[in-house]
Amino acid sequence: MAIPSQLLPYLLAAAAAFLILSAIAEQRGLEEQQQQQQAVVARPRCQDMCGNISIPFPFGMGKPRCFLPGFEVICNTSSSGRPRLFLAYNESGPVQVVSALNHRFTARNVTASFVMKNAVELMDISVAHNEARAYRAVSSACSTNSTHFRAKFQYTNLGDEGPFLLSAMRNVLIGVGSNVESMMMTSTGETGNEMKAYMPSCLSNLMGKLKYATDGNGTCSGLGCCQAALPLNVTEFGVSFMPRLNLLWQTNPCFYGMLVEKSWYNFSVHDLYGRELLYPRGVPVVLEFAIRNLGSCPPEGQQKPQGYACISGNSTCVNTTRGDDYVCKCLEHYDGNPYII
Ligand SMILES: *[C@@H]1O[C@H](CO)[C@@H](O)[C@H](O)[C@H]1NC(C)=O
Ligand SMILES: *[C@@H]1O[C@H](CO)[C@@H](O)[C@H](O)[C@H]1NC(C)=O
Ligand SMILES: *[C@@H]1O[C@H](CO)[C@@H](O)[C@H](O)[C@H]1NC(C)=O
Ligand SMILES: *[C@@H]1O[C@H](CO)[C@@H](O)[C@H](O)[C@H]1NC(C)=O
Ligand SMILES: *[C@@H]1O[C@H](CO)[C@@H](O)[C@H](O)[C@H]1NC(C)=O
Ligand SMILES: *[C@@H]1O[C@H](CO)[C@@H](O)[C@H](O)[C@H]1NC(C)=O
Ligand SMILES: *[C@@H]1O[C@H](CO)[C@@H](O)[C@H](O)[C@H]1NC(C)=O
Ligand SMILES: *[C@@H]1O[C@H](CO)[C@@H](O)[C@H](O)[C@H]1NC(C)=O
Ligand SMILES: *[C@@H]1O[C@H](CO)[C@@H](O)[C@H](O)[C@H]1NC(C)=O
Ligand SMILES: *[C@@H]1O[C@H](CO)[C@@H](O)[C@H](O)[C@H]1NC(C)=O
Repeated sequence: MAIPSQLLPYLLAAAAAFLILSAIAEQRGLEEQQQQQQAVVARPRCQDMCGNISIPFPFGMGKPRCFLPGFEVICNTSSSGRPRLFLAYNESGPVQVVSALNHRFTARNVTASFVMKNAVELMDISVAHNEARAYRAVSSACSTNSTHFRAKFQYTNLGDEGPFLLSAMRNVLIGVGSNVESMMMTSTGETGNEMKAYMPSCLSNLMGKLKYATDGNGTCSGLGCCQAALPLNVTEFGVSFMPRLNLLWQTNPCFYGMLVEKSWYNFSVHDLYGRELLYPRGVPVVLEFAIRNLGSCPPEGQQKPQGYACISGNSTCVNTTRGDDYVCKCLEHYDGNPYII
């Protein structure tokens, strides 16, 4: 995957923003020392905040010593609102792809007419839980007439070699619509427009009767809203739809599909109406992270190898279920960052 040209200005802007931020960070560092000493989350002289988002090591930005490989982030302060935090990416790194198409669609052969790539935006990071939450837009298919749809698919590639996985435990697949089969899929194409390997799917079918959804308003159980559990070990994922007729296309034109943090989305019958896209800014999806430089934890009692990440005195190493990586945890009764001294 080559760096798309539309990203180059962004990378340059981010570099410029970083120079300014470094200066601010150094100054703020001094101010903080004068204040009461706070919990240290980052390595010395590394920026530890992006707006109100904490950046705990192994995440970091700027100098390579400020982050571990794969955990580089970029703080975008050039937007008018609050600063926004992104995972840095290169050709193999985390990327988010939106493709849109404006015709009759068949999920088995999706040919996108418009493709846009973006960096993955982070909401927050928790070292204690080995999790970062990212914004992820909702996939949609909105009828334009009885046979045609305008669809927008969201696809994310976290990178095979990278530290991130989609959390199977903490997320769920959701479908919203009067007759929607929402499904999660992986992709082989680098633009995300050739999709294969159908994973879980779920079905909501009102059989043309909105009353069924109103009766079940607030619960996601197959009438207007459906959900399905996710598989383990997923680094590439999109949400699409199996083609189904929308009998209610005039009043209820849109179907939605999302991968989202469990318990976050509360179904409301209101979401079945109108052409407004649900949550245009994105919904939270939970990513797990782990250290992947050495394989599993070194055996107990053995000399710690070079590059071992659990360097805090009161920390311990925990193997993950993926089998080729580990995370660092604070020992009981301690908190702080096990990845720094
Ligand atoms: C940052 O501020 C925004 C807007 O006030 C808020 O929605 C968000 O939860 C905050 N994030 C953190 C990590 O505190
Ligand atoms: C891209 O990122 C991956 C994962 O972090 C890393 O292994 C690789 O060396 C990077 N490639 C380049 C060209 O920077
Ligand atoms: C950073 O912010 C600027 C200004 O809003 C925007 O043009 C740019 O696309 C942003 N970068 C990303 C990755 O969103
Ligand atoms: C998908 O459709 C396009 C255009 O109709 C066709 O050229 C292509 O061979 C199809 N791909 C598959 C895998 O069926
Ligand atoms: C629906 O719209 C498409 C494209 O705009 C058009 O080709 C098709 O004939 C329309 N179908 C009906 C039944 O109106
Ligand atoms: C859905 O409801 C739960 C529990 O009341 C709440 O924590 C959550 O914030 C709600 N989600 C949204 C998007 O409002
Ligand atoms: C469905 O639930 C939402 C939120 O719980 C409420 O605002 C809405 O009025 C309800 N709609 C109907 C038709 O009961
Ligand atoms: C982690 O797994 C490795 C390899 O299977 C094993 O040698 C090590 O003892 C395990 N460590 C812990 C803390 O479970
Ligand atoms: C563990 O933390 C305690 C309290 O902060 C500290 O006194 C002690 O030196 C730490 N142990 C190691 C091995 O770093
Ligand atoms: C998870 O994927 C990795 C490759 O990324 C593979 O080596 C490992 O065996 C997989 N683990 C499970 C439990 O599927």
